[in-house]
Amino acid sequence: MALVVLGCGWIARRHAAAARRLRLPLIFASRDVARARAYAREFGGVGAYGGYAEALGDPRARAALVCTPHDRHLDDVLQALAAGRHVLVEKPLARTLEEADRMIEAAARAGRVLMTAENFRFMPAFRWVRRALDAGTLGDPREVHLVARAWRRHTGWRLTPGAGGGALIDTGIHYVHALRWWGGEVRRVFALRPPQTIADMAGEDAVDLLAECEGGVIGFLANSLGAHGLPRFQWSSVTGTRATCFVDNRGRLALVRGMGGLRLRLFRRDTRGHEAMLRAFDDAMTTGRATETDGTEGRRDLAVVLAAYRSIAEGRPVTPAC
Ligand SMILES: NC(=O)c1ccc[n+]([C@@H]2O[C@H](COP(=O)([O-])OP(=O)(O)OC[C@H]3O[C@@H](n4cnc5c(N)ncnc54)[C@H](OP(=O)(O)O)[C@@H]3O)[C@@H](O)[C@H]2O)c1
Repeated sequence: MALVVLGCGWIARRHAAAARRLRLPLIFASRDVARARAYAREFGGVGAYGGYAEALGDPRARAALVCTPHDRHLDDVLQALAAGRHVLVEKPLARTLEEADRMIEAAARAGRVLMTAENFRFMPAFRWVRRALDAGTLGDPREVHLVARAWRRHTGWRLTPGAGGGALIDTGIHYVHALRWWGGEVRRVFALRPPQTIADMAGEDAVDLLAECEGGVIGFLANSLGAHGLPRFQWSSVTGTRATCFVDNRGRLALVRGMGGLRLRLFRRDTRGHEAMLRAFDDAMTTGRATETDGTEGRRDLAVVLAAYRSIAEGRPVTPAC
């Protein structure tokens, strides 16, 4: 049974490459049949369609991978569920909590899996951090610092407010997920936005966010697309009462330093977690339940992002509507 890739763009290539390595059959759907055919040729797809509905109707289809702009997610997810397919939808799950709720309810009604494609959750290096926390290597967690700042000049739908949003709802949401996963649920968030550098981007190009998580852990996230001159090599870190764990944001290495000395781990395979995520999705379709990044998890990440936006607008700390 095949996975239908909805939208043949950048992230579709990452999913397709991972699926090919896992020998999962793929059907490609594009608004342009020539593009769908080109992707099918390149990634060994078993089908190619010039329309999403036709592809979802293919009797070999088991699930849909929604790889479209943010303002398409709701309609594409609902259409896939209505066709009886399980759904793995790219982050952010949705643009609003109302949209997220409609997806979660529709999946429950259809008896199908709805999973958010939050690949950071499946990156081996990021999982190593979680394991270090679980093993008590870091002691009790105190602070989570995430720095993801770069110069990234977007084009197309990402410049528009409806489809793209801004830096935090697009790339920053990965780090919001890591913050919740490592630091605990966010109780309050205070966010500020520096003056815009990328003038033609409708959404914000940078956000600095301070969060109070359950248990008193403090999270700090600096996220920017408008920062010239920064190295590509950037870290996220978790500090506990015994040690600090650093992880390269691209998932190639992680290390723990502190009371127990130094431990370094290098990661070479599936560093971005796309294969592990597809395997988890495959398992979820078999068991009927996504165990890690289901729709509710995607909704919680979104709730923190939206609370940060409200905090920026109102100039005060905001409690996410989880
Ligand atoms: N996990 C990650 O690290 C990561 C990285 C990048 C992006 N993403 C997410 O993946 C999704 C897609 O992002 P992307 O970077 O792959 O974007 P992209 O390269 O622009 O691809 C999006 C595709 O959606 C389809 N589409 C349908 N309606 C469209 C419209 N009105 N305007 C433009 N495209 C439309 C197009 O495919 P057809 O023309 O073939 O139908 C297009 O190629 C987003 O949710 C994004 O946040 C995740």
